[in-house]
Amino acid sequence: MLDIKITRTTTPKEKPTGPLGFGKIFTDHMFIMNYTEGIGWHDPRIEPFHDLSISPACVILHYGQEMFEGLKAYKGVDGHNYLFRPDMNAKRANVSNDRLCIPHIPEEDFVQAIKAIVKVDEDWIPTEPGTSLYIRPFIIATDVFLGVDTSKTYLFMIILSPSGAYYPEGLAPVSIWIEDDFVRAVRGGMGFAKTSGNYACSLIGQIKAHNDGYSQVLWLDGVERKYIEEVGSMNIFFKIDGKVVTPMLNGSILPGITRNSVLTLCRDWGLEVEERKISVDELIDAQKSGKLEEVFGSGTAAVISPVGKLRYKDDVMTIGNGEIGELSQKLYDTVTGIQLGRIEDKYGWRVLVD
Ligand code: COI
Repeated sequence: MLDIKITRTTTPKEKPTGPLGFGKIFTDHMFIMNYTEGIGWHDPRIEPFHDLSISPACVILHYGQEMFEGLKAYKGVDGHNYLFRPDMNAKRANVSNDRLCIPHIPEEDFVQAIKAIVKVDEDWIPTEPGTSLYIRPFIIATDVFLGVDTSKTYLFMIILSPSGAYYPEGLAPVSIWIEDDFVRAVRGGMGFAKTSGNYACSLIGQIKAHNDGYSQVLWLDGVERKYIEEVGSMNIFFKIDGKVVTPMLNGSILPGITRNSVLTLCRDWGLEVEERKISVDELIDAQKSGKLEEVFGSGTAAVISPVGKLRYKDDVMTIGNGEIGELSQKLYDTVTGIQLGRIEDKYGWRVLVD
């Protein structure tokens, strides 16, 4: 159990009034905790949100030893504050930590720290439809040293951002470019970890996609460049001939928490669900024969995001006349319904903050 020291700001900021966008506005406070080899995690505290002062020789700036997480807090319909499956983020954080040689944070401390900072800034949880308080826990390596080695000191921080939909399209279908040249990850690499390098690696594909008028990039496997992996900011699902199909977790795909929730819901609804390899050729064939019924992404930030168009080389596939599919809409309504407490949470996914 952490003994968290709280210092409140004496100059609270104005709360936003207009559209929030995603990840642009930050609350009044942040959580910080230090790690020092031989001592462990220490000095957990909540302070007014502030800039960091670090040496230009800090390990994180040169070698990217970092992990981050993403989850959200909601104002439930009963007026209480809730998180969605924070235990899963705590577990995944330590999986990423292992891969990045960063010390573990006890899961209960990770969740306690999130609850504490959300409680302090609870007035920042937005209540407009489609909004929430996005929570970004992260760890950076802070040793001042230019040799390539694991850091002996770290900072664990949590910042909060009242946010709306991740994509400006909202629930309108997004268009996706399937990248056939660059790759994001290979098995044995760190594709399954939530760490900055994976996202730095994805930017070039995103630029190519944007330049061609597409909003996101879909990555293929790093070896054969044939099998579907994931989109830059979400996992991907296909409804093919009545079955729900998603790439299996193979070590180079992020094990999404919304992905896991979608699989649970679909299985519960009696749908046939397959986690397996899906080749881009299979997709093209399914689309040509009219069997590709729906495509959607899942992610904490994106929630459920319908896909209306996919492009692979010269093949442009339009899905469902560019409109949101029935299953995507039902999943969006159910996931957000559970998050807000509008729908019974028979899985115990919703966690009370206070
Ligand atoms: C999330 O869904 O929480 C993510 O981390 C995706 C993205 C914003 C990087």
